[in-house]
Amino acid sequence: MGVKLSGGPNTERKKVTVADFSRMKTHGQRIVMVTSYDYPTSIIADDVGVDSILVGDSYGMVVLGYDTTIPVTLEELLPVCQAVKRGASHSLLIGDMPFLSFQISEENAIRNAGRFIKEGRMEAVKIEGGREMANVAKAVSNAGIPVLGHIGLTPQTATLRGGYRVQGKNADSGKSLIEDAKSLEDAGVFGIVLEMITEEVARVITRTVSVPTIGIGSGRYCDGQVLVLHDILGLYPKFVPKFAKRYTDLASTIGGAVREYASEVRQGTFPEEKHVFKMDDAKRDKLDLRQKS
Ligand code: KIV
Repeated sequence: MGVKLSGGPNTERKKVTVADFSRMKTHGQRIVMVTSYDYPTSIIADDVGVDSILVGDSYGMVVLGYDTTIPVTLEELLPVCQAVKRGASHSLLIGDMPFLSFQISEENAIRNAGRFIKEGRMEAVKIEGGREMANVAKAVSNAGIPVLGHIGLTPQTATLRGGYRVQGKNADSGKSLIEDAKSLEDAGVFGIVLEMITEEVARVITRTVSVPTIGIGSGRYCDGQVLVLHDILGLYPKFVPKFAKRYTDLASTIGGAVREYASEVRQGTFPEEKHVFKMDDAKRDKLDLRQKS
């Protein structure tokens, strides 16, 4: 649980930094990352000892109900980052740069990444894209902001690239992904998310680059894994990706609780005696309980 800095379990719960990501890869310790979009789940994830929390632009889909991540804005994500920051004290906090917040120019990317750090109180940013975004990743990281790369299926440009498809299914596309990963490594990223890449290609990338790879739908040989919290919890009933594992079914649990509450209100069995507030006897005596309001 949590980052292990010197070979033993991290019982002291030290603050995780980008340097720890690199150390964890060297020591063969798998990195645990999860998304969070609010204060209570940030407290829980941080408390159980995940290494990193990503405020993903998936927020737009799983919380705001958009069909894709495209409409999400920086203005929508910043208060979410602030809430997650208030809940977490140990995990490395990463803000996901939304569509068009980093593509326009390097200067614009640095300014927006800076807002994640200064206003959102994140410690790093994630940028989608391979070699075509290496200059942006370099500019942001040269400005002193740690950057996590993201290649393979990049949801912000999925439409352009032919939809939500597994990447690296043949040698040419595998080689292209390896080149993307190397370009990002050269640009100075501290890690790379590999999304929906065949296990074979993800394994080669993981062995090729010195920075840790964080897989989502990219098999068993990445240096770490990330999942969307709502997929883990069974709280996004619209769609469950093949690669996600549902560890619980919160949608049913919540549905059951709300159904029971509704039924008790209708039957008059809630509230009960223990849920009500009473006047002092002396004060009640002065109130004519038969008085009509
Ligand atoms: O937005 C997000 O949650 C992500 C992860 C799926 C890596 O980008």
